[in-house]
Amino acid sequence: MQQDPKALSSSHRKGAACKIPMPRPSAGCFAQSAQLLYHAHPFPPPHSLMNTLPKHTLSVAPMLDWTDRHYRYMARQITRHTWLYTEMVNAGAIVFGDPDRFLARNECENPVALQLGGSEPNLLAQAARKAAEYGYDEINLNCGCPSPRVQKGAFGACLMLDAPLVADCLNAMQDAAPDTAVTVKHRIGIDRQTEYAPLADFVGHLVRHTPCRTFVVHARNAWLDGLSPKENREVPPLRYELVYRLKQEFPDLEIIINGGIRTNEDIALHLQHVDGVMVGREAYHNPFVMHDWDRLFYREKQPAPERDEIVQRLYEYAQQQLSKNQGTILRHMARHYLGLLHGLPKARVWRRMLSDADLLRPNRPELILQAWQACGGNGTAQP
Ligand SMILES: Cc1cc2nc3c(=O)[nH]c(=O)nc-3n(C[C@H](O)[C@H](O)[C@H](O)COP(=O)(O)O)c2cc1C
Repeated sequence: MQQDPKALSSSHRKGAACKIPMPRPSAGCFAQSAQLLYHAHPFPPPHSLMNTLPKHTLSVAPMLDWTDRHYRYMARQITRHTWLYTEMVNAGAIVFGDPDRFLARNECENPVALQLGGSEPNLLAQAARKAAEYGYDEINLNCGCPSPRVQKGAFGACLMLDAPLVADCLNAMQDAAPDTAVTVKHRIGIDRQTEYAPLADFVGHLVRHTPCRTFVVHARNAWLDGLSPKENREVPPLRYELVYRLKQEFPDLEIIINGGIRTNEDIALHLQHVDGVMVGREAYHNPFVMHDWDRLFYREKQPAPERDEIVQRLYEYAQQQLSKNQGTILRHMARHYLGLLHGLPKARVWRRMLSDADLLRPNRPELILQAWQACGGNGTAQP
């Protein structure tokens, strides 16, 4: 669900009351600020964005160094409807660096979201404006990354401790890119805090003060002290019930759940409670898991391509990228394709050939077809 950013008057930011759907108060303990929200929540009316953008029933998570445009190209060959997220890009890198380096993408990627990292409204606004020019459908603010480097820059997960600043950032981004959806990705809490109230307060504040209506929630706390980013994706326990509760108490929001979700059965289960599921590592290590997503979750009638057709498209893509002579080498693409045969008997041969430095060095796209044929590929994929 996306709402009209333009319909958000200045009264919205002040939290003025209006007669539009309210979050449903639940029985029992309900965060005080969420109670307040019940009386003062000004949902803007629906807007064309809401009708034109596909639903976030499924999305592939933003993953630094992994979900670059070459990975996204492959993912888009497997699923037409799933949302794809870029890696997190620092707003400053776009504003002060070469925007093309960070924002260039393939035409076929939509629906695609750019994830920004930052905490300076002005910088984020400039980056958001650029992103809109590059045709991103959505701009997502990272409030979930726990890495020490990001903490040093006072953004990522530590932003969950400063909802007013996040609101300023989201509003600045939305003002700069009024026709692009602005969303947020965050955790369920910070450090060892286990209550629901701070999470509801964070979301409630953003709902009252910004046009953001889509919340991607990684169902783990971020422990800011002593865990590496990798450990922070594994050690803090998953608590899906908190995300379900957010959806119950804010039924008009689009709530996307993330964290530890791997199978179509898991996805179907979560979709009974929330609007969408975001899958990260499984979609990277086993991209073919996405093969049935359009049919199962978007009611797509047209069958998704099988591996031989995907390999053929990857080969043609590699050919085209290499012929541009813009610095892309075969390894930049092939490293993302290693998981494509995950679970098949010859997966190891595929992985070995596509990661072999000697085979990759000549930059010949035919290596993709050779690896496929060495795995017993049926020859549909042709040079
Ligand atoms: C290599 C890697 C890089 C990541 N980079 C980002 C990032 O740039 N922005 C972000 O919000 N989350 C990032 N994440 C976290 C994922 O988006 C996701 O929240 C997390 O992996 C949990 O989902 P999963 O269990 O389905 O993998 C990253 C995860 C991995 C494995």
